Amino acid sequence: MYKGISLLVLISALLYSANISAFSRDKKVQLKNNEYNSSELCAECHRDIYNKWSDSVHALAVKDPIFYTSYIEAYTISGGEAKILCLKCHSPTTIVTKDYELSGKIANEGVSCDFCHTLKGVNLNDRKDPFIREISLIKRGPLKGGEVKEHKVEYSKLHLSSELCASCHEYVSDNGLSIMGTYSEWKGSSYAEEGKQCQDCHMPKIEGKVAKASTSKEMRDINDHNLQGGHSIVQLKKVLQVKIKETKRVKDKFSVSVSIENAGSGHMVPTGMPTRKLILNCEVRTPKNKVYSEKRLFEKIIIGKDGRELVKDSEIMLGRGVSIIKDNRIGPKEVRVEEFIFNIPEIMDVTVSAWVDYLYKPLLLQETEMKIEMNRDEKVFSR
Ligand code: HEC
Ligand code: HEC
Ligand code: HEC
Ligand code: HEC
Ligand code: HEC
Repeated sequence: MYKGISLLVLISALLYSANISAFSRDKKVQLKNNEYNSSELCAECHRDIYNKWSDSVHALAVKDPIFYTSYIEAYTISGGEAKILCLKCHSPTTIVTKDYELSGKIANEGVSCDFCHTLKGVNLNDRKDPFIREISLIKRGPLKGGEVKEHKVEYSKLHLSSELCASCHEYVSDNGLSIMGTYSEWKGSSYAEEGKQCQDCHMPKIEGKVAKASTSKEMRDINDHNLQGGHSIVQLKKVLQVKIKETKRVKDKFSVSVSIENAGSGHMVPTGMPTRKLILNCEVRTPKNKVYSEKRLFEKIIIGKDGRELVKDSEIMLGRGVSIIKDNRIGPKEVRVEEFIFNIPEIMDVTVSAWVDYLYKPLLLQETEMKIEMNRDEKVFSR
């Protein structure tokens, strides 16, 4: 008897939920016309893309603690001025919504779906507001001729070009200093000449559905909206090639030539934030484990009015720098050869290693190790 009732309840519950889901499949997601929509609404249909975007740096551009800490600092130093400046790129919907206190949901979505997909153009000469928008139900993107009930679609060349990214990935301060030049570094490279855009490397095609099956007519690949960059060790490892080119002995010195190649990055390494640095290490180890080591730094150094290096993201991004005193970063496809000279008078077998470290988020990139017989080297170079 008891069992019978519960079975009945279960059956009706099943029927009830079946009804609900049939209903919700038909139910239209109501997108607002002349306002930004939350990315969660887009997720209703673009689930696969949403899942990739939602843990990307773009989605976290205001929530990310590294940004937020530095934002609070900048906000304090500048007496609140920073909000308009920083949020222009880190939460660009605020230019329109004026939600500079980040109180609403959309402002906290950072670089959101609707922000990018309602862009019509960019004007890179307007530094305060480079975005040309048309906030409406027309969603612009790379697809031609898709038909959707909930919103219109429009094919957009902008979304296939680096200029879209340049609106935020190029930062010239009010006094004309290039703080971040990722776009111009790319523009001057052979990748730009070949027509290889930011998207080609950062948004490769991956498996997934453009929209959920009930609405989309075909299955096709999507572009990876996770935008992996320097935060991905896998990507970093592919980029830099370190090789020990030559070792030689000159009198009581032992010298090592190491080449470092920016093989896979479409801009300088490091790019973006000047607080990121690359360190090339060279180490010579003797059989008795005596270690000789040396480092070379590849970096861009910006100094402030008082001539000291600006080391805080907040000061740098507020545009407090007055000049760039060093920039020896490695350009796209460039091969740099560095010579390290060690004072090692004894002749013996040594192990030489060379590797690069990425400083900022300390990541170990690559290590190449070579065992060299110094005796043979000696022979060669004593002639
Ligand atoms: C009710 C489902 C639904 C919702 C909600 C929805 N979309 Fe779409 N969207 C689609 C479908 C279906 C397509 C067409 C896919 C195709 O062509 O295969 C599409 C296509 C697109 C395209 C491609 C346009 C092009 O021409 O390249 C973009 C961009 C887009 N949507 C953005 C958004 C954004 C941003 C939101 C949230 C504000 C959103 N969509 C909400 C169903 C939806
Ligand atoms: C509205 C501004 C804006 C636009 C447009 C934009 N980005 Fe970004 N992007 C940012 C911000 C802000 C960050 C840093 C977020 C953070 O870490 O706090 C970022 C971070 C990144 C990163 C760094 C990832 C990492 O792991 O370090 C990559 C890669 C990237 N963007 C690529 C692109 C590409 C490619 C485009 C063009 C398709 C683009 N972005 C368009 C603002 C933007
Ligand atoms: C930084 C800007 C940016 C953000 C944020 C962004 N997109 Fe995109 N999206 C693009 C670009 C650029 C492309 C085209 C890439 C290409 O074809 O090379 C694209 C492509 C698409 C497409 C066409 C299918 C595909 O994958 O190529 C859809 C649909 C889409 N995006 C929806 C979304 C949704 C939904 C969100 C949020 C969850 C989102 N986008 C967030 C820039 C963005
Ligand atoms: C040829 C492929 C390629 C192209 C083209 C390319 N990138 Fe990259 N990008 C990479 C690789 C690989 C990395 C990781 C290594 C590094 O930090 O340079 C990277 C890193 C980044 C980072 C993170 C930097 C860091 O230190 O965390 C940003 C931001 C970025 N790219 C933006 C862009 C933008 C914007 C464009 C277009 C103007 C672009 N990239 C063009 C391959 C490319
Ligand atoms: C012109 C657009 C732009 C402006 C203005 C801007 N940023 Fe950014 N910011 C970016 C981009 C793009 C990145 C990612 C760069 C990269 O990875 O190479 C970034 C990255 C950062 C990061 C590193 C985040 C991380 O997770 O590694 C910090 C911190 C930061 N910005 C702070 C600020 C502060 C504070 C301000 C205001 C004083 C500001 N930014 C203004 C575009 C901007």
